[in-house]
Amino acid sequence: MAAEKVNDQERDNPEMVALREEALAALSKAASLAELEEARVAFLGRKGKLTSLLQGIKDLPPQDRRRAGMMANRLKGWLEQAIDEREKELRRMELEAGLRGERLDVTLPGRHVTYGSRHLISSIIEEIEDIFIAMGYRVAEGPEVELDYYNFEALNTPEWHPSKSLQDTFYVDASAVGREDVLLRTHTSPVQIRVMESTSPPLYVIAPGKAYRHDVPDATHSPMFHQVEGLAVDERISLADLKGTLEFFAKRMFGEDRAVRFRPHFFPFTEPSAEVDVSCIICGGKGCRVCKGTGWLEILGAGMVDPNVFGYVGYDAERYSGFAFGMGVDRIAMLKYGVPDIRYLFDNDLRLLAQF
Ligand code: PHE
Repeated sequence: MAAEKVNDQERDNPEMVALREEALAALSKAASLAELEEARVAFLGRKGKLTSLLQGIKDLPPQDRRRAGMMANRLKGWLEQAIDEREKELRRMELEAGLRGERLDVTLPGRHVTYGSRHLISSIIEEIEDIFIAMGYRVAEGPEVELDYYNFEALNTPEWHPSKSLQDTFYVDASAVGREDVLLRTHTSPVQIRVMESTSPPLYVIAPGKAYRHDVPDATHSPMFHQVEGLAVDERISLADLKGTLEFFAKRMFGEDRAVRFRPHFFPFTEPSAEVDVSCIICGGKGCRVCKGTGWLEILGAGMVDPNVFGYVGYDAERYSGFAFGMGVDRIAMLKYGVPDIRYLFDNDLRLLAQF
């Protein structure tokens, strides 16, 4: 701040001493350039306090004017210099505050980024896809909201079949879609029909996706679950091809020393049909808690495509034969990774999701 020495002349003039004190206080109070400008106007502006004081000098008695004029001008000079200095000070403070705000500490640890990961079910589906793609299959998809025709009728499933009942199948409200034959597919098998309708043999496809059944959720049931459907149609396809294909798959998926076992079963759209077991992926077949002592785990249904199904899609059943299978993805995931409850897969709980 400018020299603050009070000289004799000023001491004579209490008005100027007061003005000087007042100005000093105003300058140090000004905390920004805008406030400093306000203070400058208050003293040196057109109607400022010092300006009016200077203007008043001409009204003094002539013998006092010279001295008062000198003093007032000195005060003005002092004040201008004080404002200048305060301005420099404020600019320096603003610059420092700005630099402080922009300071970059390159030694600080980085911000942690949490990565998402693929859902276990998606990974398993991709693993299954890779195994079949390596055998020359392609991947197909179909709608989850299906027509009765694709889900049941063209799959040779009679009107009276229990899986068609309201207890087992979610039907879409007829008033909403204007027809009574729309439902959530109960398996991925309707994709077989859609693929055959749009392609001629030979064909080798798998179709992963969601399926829906009117089940009460418990540790092993979920009204929404996942399947991978498989379909091969060509000349001279036999049950041996089905067995070899599934054996190759089981070894790739679960380990080289896995075996498969076919148990006779019934599906309307395959003949003959089988339920297929894989030797227990936990105990290898000796018998354990997971396979309930049997040494085997049931993971899919399969069979030779029923010639009636070829009739629905216009394939020549004399020339072509084929096999189909459908496996439960959720069950495979649970067995392979020891997930004790199917509902854990769909809870969106990070304690499960973050493990895969
Ligand atoms: N769609 C059958 C099911 O969901 C499985 C299956 C598919 C059986 C293909 C035979 C052939 O149970």
